[in-house]
Amino acid sequence: MSDIPIIWILGGPGCGKGTQCAKIVEKYGFTHLSSGDLLREEVASGSDKGRELQELMVSGALVPNAQVLSLLNAAITRAKGASKGFLIDGYPREKNQGIEFEAQIAPADLAIYFDCSEETMLKRILARAAAATEKRADDNEATIRSRLQTFKRNTSDILALYEEKTLTINAERDVEDIFMEVVEAIDCVLQKKERESKIC
Ligand code: AP5
Ligand code: MG
Repeated sequence: MSDIPIIWILGGPGCGKGTQCAKIVEKYGFTHLSSGDLLREEVASGSDKGRELQELMVSGALVPNAQVLSLLNAAITRAKGASKGFLIDGYPREKNQGIEFEAQIAPADLAIYFDCSEETMLKRILARAAAATEKRADDNEATIRSRLQTFKRNTSDILALYEEKTLTINAERDVEDIFMEVVEAIDCVLQKKERESKIC
């Protein structure tokens, strides 16, 4: 795993994590794993576990890390042989998640934090919900406010713990301007990996 980049994509609900990940996948061909998408797949499977997850997600709370990490771990294991790099979108959401990921899977090379005001995030999600044919169960105003609270409670600890490898990007700008900064950071990680592989 040390030969390919692992990048954590952080930021509050609606800051644009998924939007930027789609652009990164297009440019670099990385494997995009969104913890929220993996959880929604489990919910869609109709399993008992899925029903429990749905309740927590609709309340705007975090689901237990053992469940998220096990879904991520399985998806990483499946993709690992053919992957050019991993984008882990929406993880870690509290600091123990980061510690457990790095202990069980591999250290992250970079964390990108999309910094965005609550007002903008709320507006973006409501607009997404209004335009969607299949609206997410947690995209209603009450749940969004609860998701924002959960995010606020946990984020400063994560940013403090991973300060050295976190790049904060102002996400209140045009998608393309944000992406230019993302590209600079990823190119830098790829160059570092290339240098390391030559030394070893
Ligand atoms: P998750 O699915 O990760 O949701 P989220 O973090 O709340 O974020 P979203 O996916 O809603 O937004 P986004 O940042 O991807 O923004 P997007 O690009 O879509 O998690 C859902 C739930 O699962 C959690 O609440 C929790 O319960 C559980 N969960 C997930 N991970 C967990 C974990 N690690 N541990 C425990 N529980 C976990 O953009 C939003 C909209 O804005 C779009 O319409 C887009 O077109 C638009 N937009 C994007 N960028 C811009 C821009 N620059 N300018 C204008 N509009 C923009
Ligand atoms: Mg998303």
